[in-house]
Amino acid sequence: MLGIFDSGLGGLTVARAVRKRLPEYQVCYLGDTARLPYGNRSADLIYRFTVEGVGFLLRRGCPLVIVACNSASAVALRRLQQEWLPKKYPQARVLGVVRPLAEHAAAVTRFSRIGVVGTRSTVASGAYQREITVLNPKAHITQAACPLLVPLIEEGWGNRPETKKILRQYLRPLKRARVDTLVLGCTHYPMLRKEFAAVMGHACQVPDPAEVVAEKLADYLVRHADLAARITRGPAHQFLVTDQTEQFTQIASAWLGHPIRLETVVIEGAPAAS
Ligand code: DGL
Repeated sequence: MLGIFDSGLGGLTVARAVRKRLPEYQVCYLGDTARLPYGNRSADLIYRFTVEGVGFLLRRGCPLVIVACNSASAVALRRLQQEWLPKKYPQARVLGVVRPLAEHAAAVTRFSRIGVVGTRSTVASGAYQREITVLNPKAHITQAACPLLVPLIEEGWGNRPETKKILRQYLRPLKRARVDTLVLGCTHYPMLRKEFAAVMGHACQVPDPAEVVAEKLADYLVRHADLAARITRGPAHQFLVTDQTEQFTQIASAWLGHPIRLETVVIEGAPAAS
């Protein structure tokens, strides 16, 4: 199976794009709904939660796990890849979303003025800035944390005038910096992509991050055929969560585009859902 890990359900945007681009692979999605959101938490806690979630998917038989959560990718992935993975699961691979999105932004920017939006922890980590600057040392990066957007999107308030007003406020520094490419550095933001694009105007491109990640993953699997051969294929996808409510099921079905059944699991170290 191809593991996809997220703090909650926002990563289903990535799961959906991956299934569209790579329909042959069986996906095992894990959303840590009992402990979301990650985006306002400390680096140490995000690291611990990410290790526990990724460890669960590796033990379940995923040779490759994509950390779809930007906060976890930005804050925890490098340490996980360097310190934990080689000792615990040397044969497995864990990839994040920061690198592919940074690569894409660095490749498509016209004037090297790149904007990044994400949760507080993603922005504070400076991960996008680091990755983009390595690829394009001339790049001028302007970041904005948009902590109100995740709950608004989960409430289905994306289209409301209040949300558009908040979006305009958040994007003001990026407009002032005249960024020509905007990185949507959060699992939830593809759901507001049209609204982001409308505020930023025609001179700024706003790539769909889920599609970019799926495309880069397809490239990666071509280059790593041995690993690809170890991923089971088939349509029996699994959608696992650490806590389940009626609202989670509704959100998950709406974001995936069809009804799904969520299965509650207990991951090591996480509180059991009652
Ligand atoms: N998945 C998170 C991200 O992409 C957003 C939700 C959260 O804060 O947990 O940063």
